[in-house]
Amino acid sequence: MSVMKVKLAAFIFVLAPLAGQVPQLQAQESQKLLNMCIACHGVDGSNRYSSIPNLKGQNAAYMVEQLKQFKSGQRPDKTMSKVAKLLTEEQMQQMANYFYTGKEQH
Ligand code: HEC
Repeated sequence: MSVMKVKLAAFIFVLAPLAGQVPQLQAQESQKLLNMCIACHGVDGSNRYSSIPNLKGQNAAYMVEQLKQFKSGQRPDKTMSKVAKLLTEEQMQQMANYFYTGKEQH
């Protein structure tokens, strides 16, 4: 967790002066959403709950597809349907890349 925070801080520090406020705010928003995913799925996408799937190393295209289906209701789930509604398609891609590689992908 702390390594990730440091990386994110470094990212914001490097990018903000170059590109102004908007990417910084977007990165903060994505980070907030990602923290929520991590609370359930684990910091690298692996977790020890019997009811929550591991995402670590999962095919990113598959994860984006599942998130779209949760959002549209095609794949219903009490939790994930609500969560996926908060995400834009770009953010779905970011989260999927994050859990696929275990690295920041903003
Ligand atoms: C409150 C706990 C919780 C949170 C928060 C949460 N998830 Fe989930 N997630 C679940 C559960 C439970 C499932 C299994 C749903 C099912 O059985 O269909 C799941 C399923 C998934 C799947 C499908 C996995 C598969 O193998 O098909 C993906 C992808 C996913 N979550 C991504 C995310 C992302 C990205 C976020 C953050 C934006 C997130 N989740 C936030 C609990 C959570």
